[in-house]
Amino acid sequence: DGDAVATLRTPIVAVLGHVDHGKTTLLDRIRGSTVTDGEAGAITQHIGATAVPLETVSELAGSLVDPTDFDLPGLLFIDTPGHHSFSTLRSRGGALADIAVLVVDVNDGFQPQTIEAIDILQRTETPFVVAANKIDTVPGWNPQGDVPIQESYDAQSDRARETLDERLYELIGELADHDFSADMYWRVQNFANNVGVVPTSAETGEGVPDVLTVLMGLSQRYLKDAMAIDVEGPGAGTVLEVKDQKGFGTAIDVVLYDGTVRADDTVVVGSTGEPIVTDVRALLQPRPLAEIRTEKRFEQVDAVSAAAGLKIAAPDLDDAMAGAPVRVVRDRSREEVVQEVQEELAAIGVTTEEEGVVVKADTLGSLEAVANTLDEAEIPIVRAEVGDVAPRDVTVASTADEERHETVLAFSVDVLDNAERQADEGDIRIFESDVIYRLVEEYEEFIAERER
Ligand code: GTP
Ligand code: MG
Repeated sequence: DGDAVATLRTPIVAVLGHVDHGKTTLLDRIRGSTVTDGEAGAITQHIGATAVPLETVSELAGSLVDPTDFDLPGLLFIDTPGHHSFSTLRSRGGALADIAVLVVDVNDGFQPQTIEAIDILQRTETPFVVAANKIDTVPGWNPQGDVPIQESYDAQSDRARETLDERLYELIGELADHDFSADMYWRVQNFANNVGVVPTSAETGEGVPDVLTVLMGLSQRYLKDAMAIDVEGPGAGTVLEVKDQKGFGTAIDVVLYDGTVRADDTVVVGSTGEPIVTDVRALLQPRPLAEIRTEKRFEQVDAVSAAAGLKIAAPDLDDAMAGAPVRVVRDRSREEVVQEVQEELAAIGVTTEEEGVVVKADTLGSLEAVANTLDEAEIPIVRAEVGDVAPRDVTVASTADEERHETVLAFSVDVLDNAERQADEGDIRIFESDVIYRLVEEYEEFIAERER
């Protein structure tokens, strides 16, 4: 309708990085500081996401942020398990996340999932900042709490400061090796050409104000136009996970990036087969923070507007696919919306050939990432699907003409028992890993070994 008014929505921030480098702790720190500050309900816990309003960012960032400099309402953080670093990043053939924080343990440096995350950020052209985390583990570090990093720096011994600097420059070197020109964030003038590195301790809180400041600044500078949406319009989002929800049957965890979804809406959801058209049974959001920690209970709501994380319970969601689009039909025709979803799915490109290996992955995003890596290694794919390894996958693998293609490559999924048995009997190899390039490397090594 003609009188739609653009509203600036909250940018979606993905928190990425290698397993155990401190993503969840960083978010806990952001959440925890507000809880202890007595900011009742300031931060809302969403499904798979945490919303931090501008006032809270400005309170946490102290002198670093003047809220009157910003028009955007805050930041919506999506935590991702290390082994899923990229899986939630997709939507509209681009990035679901508007910006990202790449968390890297300063002692550990770049690790497999750091590299995978950075590849995705590069490919999707997502602006990001690096949190050089765990600085409190530098020998002789004198923790200072939730203070800006400069303040903490000044309080350290020369020795501790030098050790940290060395590690930070190693990290900057590693970023350069991956074609990112990076520097300490306070030296970066143009964030479009340079990646800012923020030393942090998610454990003690140092540098956390700086991370929020840089993210707010990046958003304001580069995302303002993209954040203008018709918030009343039909909702659009991406499936994060498909799960059973007690009392509601199968439900999908969704990150909504556009419009509104209402409890009486019909939605179209991307699936492993034809798109699912279904009527919302319930919209669920977690109860306020204090309770969620202990109870994990959900509240049924009438409507949710972007940007937000929510759970949608509806009939027929069993085949919904993580990473696939979700669209509200509202006053459009179903066919039109179904076609939109189909087109979006088709745009997520995995090309299959007559002959090749079978690939299974946990989400559409990861499937695409595996397919890209295989393509670079010139390994053809005969079948690529989201889901656990089932007997029919083994059957397809066993029909390969070339022996080297009688394999299933499984990324972050389970192998069903009967599939495993069938593979054993038919001498079909199943490779499993949570790291894409390891999966591909293991396969290549196996082939090299066999052909020697
Ligand atoms: P996954 O979700 O498994 O990928 O890990 P993650 O990146 O979310 O790491 P998480 O936050 O769970 O932290 C892993 C471990 O590192 C925990 O034991 C944390 O307490 C610890 N840790 C995280 N950040 C810091 C930090 O800044 N300093 C120190 N000393 N320990 C930290
Ligand atoms: Mg975590």
